Amino acid sequence: MKLSDEQIAFFKDNGYLILPGVISPQRCAEARDRMWAALPASCALKRDDPSTFNGPFHGADIQNDPLHVRQGFRWQNREISTDAFFIETMFNEQLRVAVEQLIGANTLREPVVGGRRMGSEGTAWPGGPVDPAINEGVRGIYCTLPYGDQPRLPDESHTDGHPFSLGAVANIHQVPADGGAFKVWPKSHRRLYPTFQMQYDQPRIPYYDHLPSYKGIIHSTAYLKELDAIMRDTPPVECCGGEGDVILWHHRLAHMAGHNYTDVIRQSVLWDYNRADLDQLRADPPQDNMWRDWSEQLQANNTHYSDAFARTQLLNS
Ligand SMILES: [Fe+2]
Repeated sequence: MKLSDEQIAFFKDNGYLILPGVISPQRCAEARDRMWAALPASCALKRDDPSTFNGPFHGADIQNDPLHVRQGFRWQNREISTDAFFIETMFNEQLRVAVEQLIGANTLREPVVGGRRMGSEGTAWPGGPVDPAINEGVRGIYCTLPYGDQPRLPDESHTDGHPFSLGAVANIHQVPADGGAFKVWPKSHRRLYPTFQMQYDQPRIPYYDHLPSYKGIIHSTAYLKELDAIMRDTPPVECCGGEGDVILWHHRLAHMAGHNYTDVIRQSVLWDYNRADLDQLRADPPQDNMWRDWSEQLQANNTHYSDAFARTQLLNS
């Protein structure tokens, strides 16, 4: 699977790229089988009964283990992070060829089958999120249960605070409109990249219960101002679509896990592609050329993508 110049141009300009039908239907079906097999038999959520799909989780079904979270409307299974099947799903030759066109040939950090799983060391700070950088495989299977009759919630976008090169979201089931799809703010990567102190990291600060304002992470004033402007002036794109679609996204792109107002469970596998030399690159400040660490092919790309192509990427303007 070679990316076209138009696909690369679109990624460069918008910070995301939807690759339709990359994961085979057979592999998606097996991923779903493994997802459901990990659910305790006692859970009220039943695969063969869609009337049980609505969240939130209740009572004994709630679990806060970072390796297998079931709380609210989120069901996140990270126990499978370094299983061979899921690593092969996201780090196969087909995807590797495409990703190397973006971040450079022979630059990728290799995953480790049976290696360290995301969540195996707990949360980044008490009550905080799990650090996706402590991981040698996929982030996990991330599901969002339908919200049922919950009132509609506003969008809240963010960028991820851990160092990585390129994110990937693989839908292992169809994600309809309004169904909790990965939601992105096009072009935000170019506006937010210069607002960080470091190219890939976000500074962290110790978290204390009695000093809760910083919650482990420091945002620069410039970042908060720009993110606020993006939320006001940029219509988001909801990356809904069929099973097997993979969405690649730039590490500084504003995004969120969408709200799910359908009766279908959103089911995706998340993954981070990393350059093997991120350890040398991460402490550098933002560069005048924000694509310094990317492939020569991407850096040289000055192609214009068509409106018709943008529509295939669900971008209307
Ligand atoms: Fe995120």
